[in-house]
Order: sequence, then C-alpha cells, then structure tokens
Amino acid sequence: MTTQPRTEQRVAIVTGGSRGIGRQIAQQLAADGFAVVVGYAGNKDAADEAVRAVEEAGGTARAARADVADETAVAALFDLAESTYGGVDAVVHSAGRMPLAPIVELDLAELDALYRTNIRGTFVVDQQAARRLRPGGALVNLSSSVVGLAFPGYGAYAATKGAVEAVTLILARELRGRDITVNAVAPGPTATDLFLDGKDEETVARLAAQPPLERLGTPQDIANVVSFLVSPAGHWVNGQVLRANGGII
Ligand SMILES: NC(=O)c1ccc[n+]([C@@H]2O[C@H](COP(=O)([O-])OP(=O)(O)OC[C@H]3O[C@@H](n4cnc5c(N)ncnc54)[C@H](OP(=O)(O)O)[C@@H]3O)[C@@H](O)[C@H]2O)c1
Repeated sequence: MTTQPRTEQRVAIVTGGSRGIGRQIAQQLAADGFAVVVGYAGNKDAADEAVRAVEEAGGTARAARADVADETAVAALFDLAESTYGGVDAVVHSAGRMPLAPIVELDLAELDALYRTNIRGTFVVDQQAARRLRPGGALVNLSSSVVGLAFPGYGAYAATKGAVEAVTLILARELRGRDITVNAVAPGPTATDLFLDGKDEETVARLAAQPPLERLGTPQDIANVVSFLVSPAGHWVNGQVLRANGGII
C-alpha cells in the first residue's frame, strides 16, 4: 500500500516569532513548507522583519500581535491562521521572558508578571492548540535546560519552565486519540537578546564553554529540533522534553 502525500497547505503558528529562537523557527518552518503566523507582543518592526525574511526566501507568513496571556487575543491569532490559511497543523510556543534574581531578593510583583507570560501564557496557547490543531498536528512548547541545571539567579524563571514541562507532559496524554503530539524543547544558553541582555562578556564566555560542544547554541540549532518534531518524521516522539543544549550538564 502506498501512502498518499498530503497536498493541502500546512499551517504553523509561532508565538514569539518576531525575535530570537522563535524567529528562526518561523523561518525554518516556512522553508519546510508551512504557511506561518508570526506572533509577537509589541515589537511590530521585528515581526514585520521576520515576515519579510520568510517572504524573501520564497515562503508565506504574516504577523499578528497577541499577548500570550490574553485569551481573547490568542483566540484571534488562531482565528486568523484558520481564516487566512485554512487550519492549524503546528503550534510552537516560543514567547517567554527571563528576568533573573536570587530568590531571596526576588521582587514578587516581577514573579506575578512572569507567571502571567510564562505560565498563564502557556495554558492559553496550549488550550487553543488543543482545541484547534488538525489530526497529524504537533504542539511544541519552549522550556529551558535551566530546569535541570539549577543555575543560581534563575529560580523564578526555572519555576515557570518547570510548569511548562508539567503542562506539556499532561496535555500529551489528555490528547489521546487526536493524533496530535505535544513535546517541549529545552534549550541551553542560546545566543539571543533574552540570553545576552544584561550579561557581561566574561559571563557569556563562561556559559559558552560549559557544554562539551564548547559554544553557545544558535537559534538555528533549536529550529532544527522543532522542525523535526513537527514533521511526519518526528511524529512518534510524543510527551517528551528534549534538552537541546550541546550536552551541558
Ligand atoms: N535564549 C536562550 O538562551 C534560551 C534558553 C532556554 C530557553 N529559552 C526559551 O526560548 C524561548 C524564546 O527565547 P528567545 O531567546 O528567543 O527570546 P527573545 O529573543 O527575548 O524573544 C522573545 C519573543 O517572545 C515574545 N514575547 C515576549 N513576551 C510576550 C508576550 N507576553 N506575549 C507574546 N509574545 C511575547 C517577544 O515578542 P516582541 O518581539 O514583540 O517583544 C519575542 O518575539 C523562550 O520561551 C525562552 O524562555 C531561551
């Protein structure tokens, strides 16, 4: 028996697609043949640039603003993907923030704000993904290797990513029977604004030297992993946290 290749347009939503890892994922998925909706929080210029980069490479994309913690805005983002491109086959939830502080000094108002984006945002995006992904689809949440690395200063952030991993594993099981995979990718230090902002050269060099591969991750390193997970070749991987970090321990 031969399997017919799917002919309809595959469609991806990438939250946090305007910058950093999310932008590279948007570009990679467009190169893989997805029409991509690039989600962003407020940086319209960056989102427009991400769309331009996709289009210049021959792909299809459009940008849409949605605070991931705002369920009405995120529902509208999914509506846009469905009305423009016909459905949703991959959701990559890359939007996130990383304020750092030792736990003893942590500003609890900052913790509440972080909860809103990193945890509530994950519930909001994952709920829409669970409701709307077509059979054969894939959801990928972005966690962080710091959940296991336990670097000092990362307490609040790592706690939010621990929540992301818990949600990922449980949702994978709740979607039994839908033919939808749910996984998390947990990068190590990756050269983006989120990682580099506020760090001196020595700190960056020290973190870059830690993995056995002796460099920082690149957004493309992470985009390659996501590209696999949302492809038919990656569909047997389900309910997993994939630590993409050059072997850092
Ligand atoms: N870089 C690393 O070393 C690293 C390591 C492990 C895990 N991660 C995770 O990987 C993901 C991407 O990180 P990154 O390094 O690419 O970050 P980044 O360069 O700072 O980009 C963050 C992206 O998230 C969007 N965003 C932020 N808050 C949002 C909100 N409330 N609603 C919607 N979008 C929002 C931003 O939109 P605007 O452009 O509009 O601001 C931007 O597109 C994050 O979940 C992060 O925790 C990163």
